Amino acid sequence: MPVSGTLYATNLVPAHALRESSHGPPAGRFTMTRAFDPREEAALTFRQRFRSEPGATFEAPGRVNLIGEHTDYNDGFVLPCAIDYRIAIAACPRPDNRVRMVAANFDGQDSSFDLDGPIESDAGAPWSNYVRGVAHVLLGRGHALRGVDMAIAGNVPLGAGLSSSAALEVVAGTLFNRLNGLGIDGTALALIGQEAENGFVGINCGNMDQLISVLGERDHALLIDCRSLEARPVRIPEGTSLVIVNSNVRRGLVDSEYNTRRAQCEAAAAHFGVPALRDVDPAGFEQGRAGLDEVTMRRARHVITENQRPLAAAEALAAGDLVRMGELMAGSHASMRDDFEITVPPVDRLVEIISDVIDSDGGVRMTGGGFGGCVVALAPTPMVEPIRAAVEERYPAVSGLQPTVYVCRASDGADAAARRAHG
Ligand code: GLA
Repeated sequence: MPVSGTLYATNLVPAHALRESSHGPPAGRFTMTRAFDPREEAALTFRQRFRSEPGATFEAPGRVNLIGEHTDYNDGFVLPCAIDYRIAIAACPRPDNRVRMVAANFDGQDSSFDLDGPIESDAGAPWSNYVRGVAHVLLGRGHALRGVDMAIAGNVPLGAGLSSSAALEVVAGTLFNRLNGLGIDGTALALIGQEAENGFVGINCGNMDQLISVLGERDHALLIDCRSLEARPVRIPEGTSLVIVNSNVRRGLVDSEYNTRRAQCEAAAAHFGVPALRDVDPAGFEQGRAGLDEVTMRRARHVITENQRPLAAAEALAAGDLVRMGELMAGSHASMRDDFEITVPPVDRLVEIISDVIDSDGGVRMTGGGFGGCVVALAPTPMVEPIRAAVEERYPAVSGLQPTVYVCRASDGADAAARRAHG
């Protein structure tokens, strides 16, 4: 049995860390432990609020990216896994055009809208905008939707860079797809989630988070080509654990910095005369970099070097070569720190602390959009407790913050989970 499946009790994320993100739904009272079963919570909340049984429950996972950061919107490669933290929706169709939502994690706050009017966002219940956005995109494409009551519950840590927003978009898309018999395939559904986030919520994210939330496979990472959308599963080696540590750094300015990075990448692609930086390799970069200003040059260098790493990492993982994986993760972190400038000092310290424990037996790097959030480590399973002990002992002293450790299992995405459930 793959030892990456070992589960550990998780700490609670301190409340302050749950309120700060501007990327992803604002935080409510999430109970970020596996003891909190999103499906059960969603069903329970449904029964309490709507006084009837939900007809069906849907779910989608958060994700962690092993390597390939800020490459997705440059049409490049990424290597994420879906994780065993999910958002579930218990739902029952209605005979009219009304969508009523209740959020278990936000003290049972509710929000509703009509499918036959223009769909507006709800500033008082921002979590609902991910569902509204998905309905808006589906209707805009001419799909007929019926009304539905839904109760939403999740244990994906919020504001941690583990894609709670993509999980909510994907589970909402899955629900509308199934309840209305739309026959949309998983990849298309992921892109609908991304479109909702770009056009309705207003975050210019790439397609990685939604794709892995739909397509993830248990005990595997997925090498995704974000241009062709081809995805290849790569097994996490036996005896290797996937450890995520939340820095609990307040993630300010995430959205504006994210959009600035994206604009810089687009400017660099224009300089090279290509549709996206994916089309420039390291040799082409050296030949053509003259004339780029210093900052744009470094942004481009990050993307162009980082884009090589998911391919090399997929090979290393498939060969069980954790030493090579560690080198690649270290290179990725340094590039995010020095060239892309999306790490922050406490996150750099966290990476150093974990790296001291792992040495060359595995790897660690910041994961996700940046400016706080989580680091991800791949390490032999016997190192999990020493990693936990080291971060708990050393991180508060250098950051003034408490770390939160999640030992995860690479998990099924919404598609594979549905296939397993329905044979
Ligand atoms: C966020 C975005 C993704 C991706 C990552 C960085 O998670 O939502 O599309 O760009 O940042 O790799």
